[in-house]
Amino acid sequence: MMKEQLEKIKELAESELEKCGAADALEALRVKYLGKKGELTAILKQMGGLSAEERPVVGQLANSVRQTIEEKLSARAAELKSELAAKKLKEETLDVTLPAKSRTVGKLHPLTVTLNEVKEIFLGMGFEVVEGPEVEYDYYNFEALNIPPDHPARDTQDTFYITDNVLLRTQTSSVQARVMEKKKPPIRVISPGRVYRSDAVDATHSPLFHQVEGLVVDKSITMADLNGTLELMMKRIYGEDCKIRLRPHHFPFTEPSAEVDMMCFNCHGEGCPMCKNEGWIEILGAGMVHPHVLEMCGIDPEVYSGFAFGIGLERITMGRYQISDMRLLYENDMRFLGQF
Ligand code: PHE
Repeated sequence: MMKEQLEKIKELAESELEKCGAADALEALRVKYLGKKGELTAILKQMGGLSAEERPVVGQLANSVRQTIEEKLSARAAELKSELAAKKLKEETLDVTLPAKSRTVGKLHPLTVTLNEVKEIFLGMGFEVVEGPEVEYDYYNFEALNIPPDHPARDTQDTFYITDNVLLRTQTSSVQARVMEKKKPPIRVISPGRVYRSDAVDATHSPLFHQVEGLVVDKSITMADLNGTLELMMKRIYGEDCKIRLRPHHFPFTEPSAEVDMMCFNCHGEGCPMCKNEGWIEILGAGMVHPHVLEMCGIDPEVYSGFAFGIGLERITMGRYQISDMRLLYENDMRFLGQF
């Protein structure tokens, strides 16, 4: 009777072990058969009821069953371990011949590229790069530039007022007086930065855009110096065949004043849609620093003269890359920016 039970346990254990596919299930089987409350132990506990002849026979059989189960257990454990290792090895295979995933490398924004170039050009001519605040006093943005409170020039440069005399600057020209108050001639600076105007957004306007101001004050500075400096800059940016022209204009803080055009890079002066049939594209405002402006900053206009200019960074960037809509520069669309 007990013999049969033992044989049955052995058979069952063997088949269960064979099918067992995981380490924790294997442990459960060990407990089920060999544990203190296991099936084999249960049988052994009944041995007391056996006769003196039967006891050693059954005892021997029980031992061999235990041994068999133990051997099977450790054999299966070893198998499972190597199966697991093989599976892992297979899953984690690296195909070193696959092409690598390409990493997206960022680029400089086209405005930054142009600005860096402009800086490089002027640094090469001995200019210094200075910065001024975007939140500016009315005084530096307007009054020090010959634009008193009732001056009509304010109408074209409306902006956001923080208080009656603090505003978002409308032009980098605000840096002119700041520099002239601190530094005495010779002065050679450029000052790039953001400027703000109450303009509606369209293909050529934005309430926030960028300018680069230039200011030179020294003895016997003339319009020829201005012309030569601008020409050099434009040729460096647009190529040797780039031509510029100065057109009479009015700015309250320069006298005489000029608007500067470049020959259309698209049609070379013939007239095309790009330049609205003008053949020329306006790119900056400039002029000789007004004597009164010099005077207000404590520089004697009888001794010194100077020129100033303000470049629209967007304008020249759009020109050189043939970008037709200014908004593209601010949308941060990687498909657009990736082209430069
Ligand atoms: N600040 C002027 C503008 O924004 C440009 C300018 C700069 C004109 C310097 C003359 C001298 O229109």
